[in-house]
Amino acid sequence: MDKLRIKGGSRLEGRVRISGAKNSALPAMAASVLTAEEVTLDNIPLVNDIFTTRRLLRELGVAVEFEGDHSVRLRAEKILSHEAPYDLVKTMRASVLVLGPLLGRTGRARVSLPGGCAIGARPINLHIKGLEKLGATVHTEHGYVEACSDRLKGAEIVFDKITVTGTENLMMAAALADGQTVLQNAACEPEIVDLAEMLKKMGARIQGAGTPTITIHGVQELHGTSHRIIPDRIEAGTFLVAGAMTHGELELIDSNPGHLASVIEKLRETGVNIETAAGRVKILGNGNLKSADVITSEYPGFATDMQAQYMALTTQTTGTSMITENIFENRFMHASELMRMGANIRIDGSRAIITGKTRLSGATVIASDLRASASLVLAALVAEGHTLIDRVYHLDRGYEKIEEKLQSVGAEIERLK
Ligand code: EPZ
Repeated sequence: MDKLRIKGGSRLEGRVRISGAKNSALPAMAASVLTAEEVTLDNIPLVNDIFTTRRLLRELGVAVEFEGDHSVRLRAEKILSHEAPYDLVKTMRASVLVLGPLLGRTGRARVSLPGGCAIGARPINLHIKGLEKLGATVHTEHGYVEACSDRLKGAEIVFDKITVTGTENLMMAAALADGQTVLQNAACEPEIVDLAEMLKKMGARIQGAGTPTITIHGVQELHGTSHRIIPDRIEAGTFLVAGAMTHGELELIDSNPGHLASVIEKLRETGVNIETAAGRVKILGNGNLKSADVITSEYPGFATDMQAQYMALTTQTTGTSMITENIFENRFMHASELMRMGANIRIDGSRAIITGKTRLSGATVIASDLRASASLVLAALVAEGHTLIDRVYHLDRGYEKIEEKLQSVGAEIERLK
């Protein structure tokens, strides 16, 4: 397994191009199942979850060809299989995103239940409940969800809890249903809006994406399209924290500051200077970071996917910060590894109390999930000496060439194969 070796202490300076959003590209690729015509997606991040999705779609019979720089052509002329197998779903739970499109297009789907994950139980009961509301017959057996329906029928669905992929699955299923569907308490993330924009280009009739109420008028058929994926706001947020922690000067290009408002506001509260312009964000770190509490919540609140990175930052702020994690019940796995590097952190249920500023020292640490691994990279950038991060396959799932991007702005980082 690859490892990353990082020598801390460099001040980061320069420009970083932000890749396309993983959490937008995954549902967009799944949406290709909804039509027999060709779909082209640009600004696709070349990360492992994308390659897992390619494998999954090919299993269903979708032709998937990467071309040029960050583009992919997809064509689901004929669906040859309705099954998302356990072997793939267990490596990437976002595989459940083929459930809605398969059911909408073919009336049949067999998708492995994802099972638990490092950050929480993460059931898909709300996806299933929504599909049943659309008239599907759903049962789970032998670890699989089996769903079928002659044709889905529009309905009113009120989500008990805001769910990102649940909203995406139901939006895709409802696009080919008979009649009108209204999703209430829907997720408002930018990735939902991006998917809706793509579906509308395919002929779907959708209003209200980006608000808690989304209305979908089903159509008989969808056609092909070309779509450019939005920038990755979590990758951009990660680099902003890197700039803040190293007191550096970074300019992020091909990013969308509008999607980062709560992160930018929080970082400004800690004392860093951030300038924004169309498609760009610039951070000028300074030596005196001060503590600030944060509570994770659904968009437009502070993203849970930025919580681990923010925790790394709070180890370098003066004072005590409290982080409250409200989305996932087990998302502090990175804390114990940060403590191995010298951080002063106390976990109390869904709260973490971090006392800073502490001197971090390099150590051998283990990544437990995608964003936890990003926080270890950030801590290593300011730690004394060398840090060795193990299991970086977690990082590769969602960050494109992170060590090359960090090297290009002055970090001493190398991948040990
Ligand atoms: C998406 O996951 C993202 N993944 C996650 O990013 C992100 O952390 C999460 O949204 C929250 O923002 C993708 O978009 C591929 P949820 P998702 O359904 O859709 C509970 C990353 O680092 N829930 O919004 O799976 C659930 O347990 C990843 O890139 C149910 O109880 O998250 C959680 O507590 C990690 N039943 C909460 O809702 C359901 O049927 C929010 O989960 C569905 C969800």
